[in-house]
Amino acid sequence: MTHSPCLDSEFTTRVDESLLDELADQLTVKGYAVLDDIFSAPTVASLRAEFEHPDCQFKSAGIGRQDDFTIAKQVRGDRICWLEGRTGAAAFFLDTMAMIRQGLNQRLFMGLFDYESHLAYYPVGTFYKKHWDAFKGRSNRVLSTVFYLNQNWCETDGGELMLYDRADESVLEQVAPVGGRLVVFLSEDFPHEVLPARQERYSIAGWFRVNTSTSTYLDPPG
Ligand code: OGA
Ligand code: MN
Repeated sequence: MTHSPCLDSEFTTRVDESLLDELADQLTVKGYAVLDDIFSAPTVASLRAEFEHPDCQFKSAGIGRQDDFTIAKQVRGDRICWLEGRTGAAAFFLDTMAMIRQGLNQRLFMGLFDYESHLAYYPVGTFYKKHWDAFKGRSNRVLSTVFYLNQNWCETDGGELMLYDRADESVLEQVAPVGGRLVVFLSEDFPHEVLPARQERYSIAGWFRVNTSTSTYLDPPG
């Protein structure tokens, strides 16, 4: 009997206990993981359609407090829109990220408290220069994720995510932004960049965070 009263089966993921084991292992050994075909192709297509949603108002991404967009453009050219779980696809994506959050907390005791994410659109020719997502002790972002939504991405399309070794800046990984692929890495451990995209590039970037008010409270004073 495969009858299901729910219609939400249009969205599927291969995130399960054994995938969480694999992810936890890779984070422990290397500090990052590249996981392919995390969602079914129709789920990826529905997430890609989020970019056309009328509620999504894309803004040029900033780089800091002043948000000097002339300077920001030399650093990053993506346009972003924060992801809310308003559509079925977005809610399914966020539910899956919540499964990952709980799965990693159970396995690695990371104390991940919540997850924030935005849709990111890189027009042709744009990039994101080498940067860190978090600095030790100065951010509550501890684990970065990037999920790609580009069907038929070719080698000549560029736009790779480069992950660098923090000690000698050598290339650890060059990751093509192919649809269905999820990259997860420790935010404080890896400088990284997005090479210039020669096709329009779509992704969902996100960060698992720890609860800083709790850690401030637990931290010894001084
Ligand atoms: C970011 C980022 C990587 C990517 O948004 O901070 O590094 O591959 N994105 O899109
Ligand atoms: Mn980044």
